Amino acid sequence: MPTPQLLKFIIIICSITSSEAFAASRCILPTLARPFAFNSQCKSRTSSGSTSLYSDRSHSSELDSAYEWLAESRVQNDPSIHGKIKWFHPNNTADSKIDDIEFKRIPLYPLGAVHVPHSGENHTIINIEPKNVKMAMDLMNGIWENSLFCASLRARDTNRVASVGTIMQLLDTDDRSIVGAKTWPGDELTLNRVVAKCRAVGVAEILSIEKCDYGEDDYLIAYVRIYNGEATTQNERSNEFDSIALQIIDDYQKVRSIYINSQSLASNELPKFARNAVQTLPTFDNTIVHNEMKFWMLVETWQMLCNTIRQSRRSRLQAIVNELSVAAAMQAKGPLELPVKRKSLPLDVQKQLDDLEQNASRDYLELGMEPVLDFQEIISMKRHIDRVMKLASMIQRERLRLEAKESLIQAFSEMELGEELVSGNYSRGSGKNAFD
Ligand SMILES: *[C@@H]1O[C@H](CO)[C@@H](O)[C@H](O)[C@H]1NC(C)=O
Ligand SMILES: *[C@@H]1O[C@H](CO)[C@@H](O)[C@H](O)[C@H]1NC(C)=O
Ligand SMILES: *[C@@H]1O[C@H](CO)[C@@H](O)[C@H](O)[C@H]1NC(C)=O
Ligand SMILES: *[C@@H]1O[C@H](CO)[C@@H](O)[C@H](O)[C@H]1NC(C)=O
Repeated sequence: MPTPQLLKFIIIICSITSSEAFAASRCILPTLARPFAFNSQCKSRTSSGSTSLYSDRSHSSELDSAYEWLAESRVQNDPSIHGKIKWFHPNNTADSKIDDIEFKRIPLYPLGAVHVPHSGENHTIINIEPKNVKMAMDLMNGIWENSLFCASLRARDTNRVASVGTIMQLLDTDDRSIVGAKTWPGDELTLNRVVAKCRAVGVAEILSIEKCDYGEDDYLIAYVRIYNGEATTQNERSNEFDSIALQIIDDYQKVRSIYINSQSLASNELPKFARNAVQTLPTFDNTIVHNEMKFWMLVETWQMLCNTIRQSRRSRLQAIVNELSVAAAMQAKGPLELPVKRKSLPLDVQKQLDDLEQNASRDYLELGMEPVLDFQEIISMKRHIDRVMKLASMIQRERLRLEAKESLIQAFSEMELGEELVSGNYSRGSGKNAFD
């Protein structure tokens, strides 16, 4: 069993289809995390799928952003902020083996998440799919040098894989298979589950997939070129860079303090479990921006905040979707079947739910706090300065959003307080959730 300490920084993003592994992405979590967070957080992942109307754009209650179409449209609409992500199809194999000291032959793990390298944090990946269980076992058994593998983002819409991935090192595994569990109506179920603890140790460009007869339970093997952390070049230490470094830290600290100090804002933006835990968000100073390796810790922290905000939006959306689904199902004749299947609902309700999800997806993406594509862009960048500029624009955007929102809340609560004073009513809070 993992200790609460291990789980402290881990929470599941249930963004990956059930046949695949879960990438346990870090969220802000209270110190005493419940070990069952995995299960309770992930129950909802089967509850909704995208349906007919928008299936081509596959919005769902998951608020997932691992889509190639989305990456593409962001570059088109905002080329100054977004870099192009290169993808390839995994069936694109190379005939001949590349034989060069620079290249490495390692297992490839396509995932619905992006892992930030060099952050020093441990990541958890829960393997269910047989080929991933096999990979974890092979890595553990020393079949692959230093237990290294390459995790790379897989687009949900095209199934293509990003051509830059994160080199991960398997540290430890924990076999949590469930054997002989009975499912209704009585089938025996064996769930092979291997929880892998890994560390992200580098970035690699995927050159090709080894050509061989991959069976259904075989994992892919890739040839990759591992980037070495190139030392910060002198010309990056310009005055301009110094001022960017100051700015990024100033913006970050401001965002951090708003989340910590503005209770009404935090209660709108953060899930319940994170409202106090937000105090544990680390502080940074500008020297970290100058250090190419340590800078990744700031990137990782920012991704954790993005994950947390997504989790908050997602649970709110799913609560609404569930409520509407159940209400609609109760109107139908016959016994109520739970969980409610989307396809069994009247068409107008299906349409309403799809609209709701699509709107929530759009609103969420407009926040600029998604934890996948922006981070894929960052790991794809070769120069430190570009990564810094990209993260700087992300953090600044969030600062501006929070500041605008904060002043709105303030104006509103002053107004409300005024009215309450007139009526002699001091019980506040009625307007707290007016800002979504
Ligand atoms: C790989 O798969 C894609 C999509 O299924 C297909 O369009 C493409 O032709 C395939 N390429 C090869 C080399 O099989
Ligand atoms: C990561 O895991 C390793 C091996 O289990 C452990 O020694 C290390 O302290 C962990 N690091 C963090 C930051 O939890
Ligand atoms: C979705 O957004 C559109 C346009 O902003 C709006 O007209 C529509 O009512 C929204 N639908 C739902 C279900 O919220
Ligand atoms: C004061 O506010 C509470 C909650 O908003 C409300 O239930 C109550 O009726 C109000 N009392 C007066 C005197 O307006």
